[in-house]
Amino acid sequence: MIKIREATEGDNDALVELQKKCPQGTSLILGIDSSPDYFARSGPFKDWHVFVAIENDIIVGSAACAIRDTYIESREFKTAYEYGFIVDPHHRRKGIAVKLQEHIEHIALDNNTDLLHLDIAEDNLPSINLFSRMGFKKVKDCTTFSLMPYKKQKITRETNIRSMEKSDVDKVTSLINEMYHDYNFFTPFQTRDFIEYVERMPYFDFHNILVFEDNGGVNACLGYWDYNKVRKYIVQRFNWRLKAQTFLIRLIGLFTKMPKIPKPNNPLLSYNLTTLAYKNSENITELIKHIVNMAIENEINFLHIPLDPESQIAAVLSQFMHTKIKLHFFIKSLKQEPPNLREKKLYIDISEI
Ligand SMILES: CC(C)(COP(=O)(O)OP(=O)(O)OC[C@H]1O[C@@H](n2cnc3c(N)ncnc32)[C@H](O)[C@@H]1OP(=O)(O)O)[C@@H](O)C(=O)NCCC(=O)NCCS
Repeated sequence: MIKIREATEGDNDALVELQKKCPQGTSLILGIDSSPDYFARSGPFKDWHVFVAIENDIIVGSAACAIRDTYIESREFKTAYEYGFIVDPHHRRKGIAVKLQEHIEHIALDNNTDLLHLDIAEDNLPSINLFSRMGFKKVKDCTTFSLMPYKKQKITRETNIRSMEKSDVDKVTSLINEMYHDYNFFTPFQTRDFIEYVERMPYFDFHNILVFEDNGGVNACLGYWDYNKVRKYIVQRFNWRLKAQTFLIRLIGLFTKMPKIPKPNNPLLSYNLTTLAYKNSENITELIKHIVNMAIENEINFLHIPLDPESQIAAVLSQFMHTKIKLHFFIKSLKQEPPNLREKKLYIDISEI
């Protein structure tokens, strides 16, 4: 008999071990080590719940949700973002994920939530089947741009770049609010919200946000989050297509500079990019170049940022060597007809990936 309950701190080690047993991906299979703190991944959220599925006193599955108020088509909605679905491989296809999903739906309804949402990698068929069966509908395709830092970038206006300070909060929040005010799922920041957002993110602070300053104004901002401290991704294996590609990259790398692709059993190191906003694309390009150079120094393999592919940022990022991961954005409406999400662009916070 499976029982679902809210996780406690005492479940940490069992959850870390369970996560290790649940590698993700199909073309590139990655093991995940979330030690020392399984709950760090939930840190950025204000109101989060991690649940565990127990059979014979052993944790065999887990799932989580984060509840917040946001705007869709200019109307206020209470939403629950779902994440962290894992089931022990020895206990799959027994309906455990379905039970976890049903439990989350109860909690969401108890909290007066209008809408559930999540994103699923396009090749994760088990999850696509699971959530389609549970009444979710795919409403959009998104893309995670993964920049591959390998070649030192020439920065022309280095002196305009510096770390953010608390005194910049108003300028940075108005830049971000101006850029995303018309996106679905964007909640405009008040000064206090932004400070709390930064404080909640584990292993991240104002130093991790760079600003481009010109004539006393902040014209662009971009944060980098060393996600390897939250969770470590270990390459387990590649499919034949990726094997061929990495072989080719390594071969060309004998003659010229090419991105470094970690071999199996080695960590894949990433920075996640966040708080990206700008008035002029040349200024944000300078900030990206600056972070690319830092990433090269720190031997980081990828810089990830999830996007609505129609966002104007896609064109800026496309100038850099990158690969893309397609994600399907799924929603389930709990109260009324689901809102139309096709008209406006979608804002995806980095913590929702
Ligand atoms: C996805 C996952 C959580 C499903 O857990 P589960 O407990 O085995 O799922 P359930 O037994 O509740 O399955 C419910 C439905 O999901 C679908 N499904 C689950 N596993 C599937 C698979 N391997 N292939 C195809 N469909 C699958 C089926 O429709 C299934 O119903 P059915 O068994 O009656 O056919 C589990 O496979 C897992 O931990 N995967 C690795 C981590 C991951 O990808 N997490 C999700 C990130 S979005």
